Amino acid sequence: MGVQIAPSILSADFGRLADEIGAIADADWVHVDVMDNHFVPNLTLGLPVVASLLKHTSVPIDCHLMIEDPDRWATGYAEAGARNVTFHAEAADAPIRLARNLRAAGARAGLALKPATPVEPYAELLPEIDMLLVMTVEPGFGGQPFLDVVLPKVRRARQLVRDGAHAVWVQVDGGVDEDTIGQCADAGADVFVAGSAVYRGDDPAAVVRRLRSRAEDVSASAWWTTGGQA
Ligand code: DX5
Ligand code: ZN
Repeated sequence: MGVQIAPSILSADFGRLADEIGAIADADWVHVDVMDNHFVPNLTLGLPVVASLLKHTSVPIDCHLMIEDPDRWATGYAEAGARNVTFHAEAADAPIRLARNLRAAGARAGLALKPATPVEPYAELLPEIDMLLVMTVEPGFGGQPFLDVVLPKVRRARQLVRDGAHAVWVQVDGGVDEDTIGQCADAGADVFVAGSAVYRGDDPAAVVRRLRSRAEDVSASAWWTTGGQA
């Protein structure tokens, strides 16, 4: 799999969500941020809205659950038809069991790490998941500045994934725009979430194209695609 772009509808017009997803029809995923006002200090939407969106789009849905007790709630999103369901390492009691439940329900399983959460303790879990989400802002809000302090962790995540036998995507989320996406691709990310960068202008599809082109250019000569060292 090459570069994948996942616009986040957190920065879209919530009154016109189906249309807003229609505006990024060439994207690989639509990233849906579920927040419960407990794990993060913000409240967005939940399973009923995701279930409705699934009826109105053919773009696969990437659910990013910023919620407490994902062990209880996450599998419902997979059962509803979300193609990827990502839960936070900091919130899950039994991440292996949860990842297995997500896969059994037909979804890809994603594991998310807040900026201060190290990746190394999760190295042994990589065979159980399909995507590692390395947050490049503190989760909770769109439009925050990119934390380049997290880039070495993206690099270590890619190294761990490359050392393993099973293909795991490395996703970045937060502050990703046309200026920062190159650094993320260079470090080792291959799935890029962008909210405000895509939806703040009047041509979301053009932004998706430019983000993809920039990420493809940089990753073509990055250490992790050319067999180099981190
Ligand atoms: C933040 C969310 C992100 C958010 C990113 O907690 O997980 O998906 O939409 O927004 P931008 O791209 O504006 O930083
Ligand atoms: Zn997100």
